[in-house]
Amino acid sequence: MHQIRTYPDPVLRKKAQPVLEIDDDLHQLVDEMVDIMYNDDGIGLAANQAGDLRRVIVLDAGDGFRAFINPEIINKNDNEVVMEEGCLSFPGIHINISRPSEVTVKAMDLEGESIEITVDGLLAKVFQHEIDHLNGILIIDYASPLHRSLLKRKLEKIEKASTD
Ligand code: NI
Repeated sequence: MHQIRTYPDPVLRKKAQPVLEIDDDLHQLVDEMVDIMYNDDGIGLAANQAGDLRRVIVLDAGDGFRAFINPEIINKNDNEVVMEEGCLSFPGIHINISRPSEVTVKAMDLEGESIEITVDGLLAKVFQHEIDHLNGILIIDYASPLHRSLLKRKLEKIEKASTD
């Protein structure tokens, strides 16, 4: 069983690289990611969080998991909404993040077929959160300096747990 990578694991700050081939190894990575996501009751996970640097995300908004390979946001609306976000790599931390309420994502599925979907609400947030991970961007990056200083102790706790 693979473990979720938590702050301050350096892999979370790395930029994941495009997938060039959908092979058995990639399917295995997706299986591991789905295991981690369900094991930790998450609704989305990026490969970095499984310690891998391929551009892959998985998510489950309640109707089974889906994997998205090389996902990119190709369109977003001008209407930003604030939603509280958590992250499996930052247990116990929640941050209000303002993001476009609707995005169009282009990706490949596990069969190598091109997908393009437009989503809003929670799913729009999850896609943006997970694609951030692939670029090494984390929820704490959205916290104000004041909020970040208030989170200091919680972050130290997560850091200590990850090295125990
Ligand atoms: Ni996350």
